[in-house]
Amino acid sequence: HRHLLGIDGLTRDEISGLLDLSESYIDRMRQKEKGSLLLGCTVMNLFFENSTRTRTSFELAAKRLGGDVINMQVQASSIKKGETLLDTAITLNAMHPDVLVVRHPDSGAVNLLSQKVDCAVINAGDGSHEHPTQALLDALTIRGRRGRLEGLIVAICGDILHSRVARSNIHLLTTMGATVRVIAPPTLLPGAIEKLGVKAFTDMRKGLDGADIVMMLRLQTERMQGSYVPSIREYFRFFGLDYDKLGSAKPDALIMHPGPMNRGVEIDSEVADDIGRSAIREQVEMGVAVRMACLDLLTRKLRDNLGS
Ligand code: CP
Repeated sequence: HRHLLGIDGLTRDEISGLLDLSESYIDRMRQKEKGSLLLGCTVMNLFFENSTRTRTSFELAAKRLGGDVINMQVQASSIKKGETLLDTAITLNAMHPDVLVVRHPDSGAVNLLSQKVDCAVINAGDGSHEHPTQALLDALTIRGRRGRLEGLIVAICGDILHSRVARSNIHLLTTMGATVRVIAPPTLLPGAIEKLGVKAFTDMRKGLDGADIVMMLRLQTERMQGSYVPSIREYFRFFGLDYDKLGSAKPDALIMHPGPMNRGVEIDSEVADDIGRSAIREQVEMGVAVRMACLDLLTRKLRDNLGS
């Protein structure tokens, strides 16, 4: 593949290969080793939505591999003068970047952009469609803690309707042989979600029953214009992860959250900070290793052509 636009369509072997490569970067990432693999390569970050983890970790990953990084300031760019997404992409492409890392609020926008440029494109999240590197870092975290993905029961809870993280995780985890459940209020549960091979629940305790992994999601209020927004107090009561509801999952169930977290909304602060059971900080750490692996893989052809 020239681009990484989504998990949907990747084979089990391709996912395993990406996770193995990511694993091989964990030690080098922890030791802050400065490599030269991407020497001469330019990575451009183009984020039309806010980000803390994804943008920073792509920059860190590229720099650790010796690449040059440009962070496009969308707020200060000519997009504010009316330049379209595609014209912006074609303009940046004319400067010969090797990788464009793109986040956009519209589902499908990154895919469209990838058809107009010569370089590799990585989807850093498009609307409610996909966020492939998030699913890869989640899988790497689970594999690190449990040694496998196959056979695990993973419960993804919260705003499934608007979540690209849920979609990418569903594709990855079902492909790798995990059992995936989604738990949400009926208003935040897409009608056809079970067609993706998951079982849907609207009762948190039933959905968490016997789960190995509990993955919490933020309410994406920015995508709820004009639609029903639950009251925070009511939402926490029925769908917020506290120790009481967590009691339905396996006693050693792993707690995960892609971030950003809204404490007291979808997750109780104490649960989020549970040192033994929460893998939230580890997810962020694994994000750097996964992004190093993705940049490595997608620039291989280019580096082969350069004879390096
Ligand atoms: N999980 C995630 O994508 O976080 P950011 O929005 O901070 O990048």
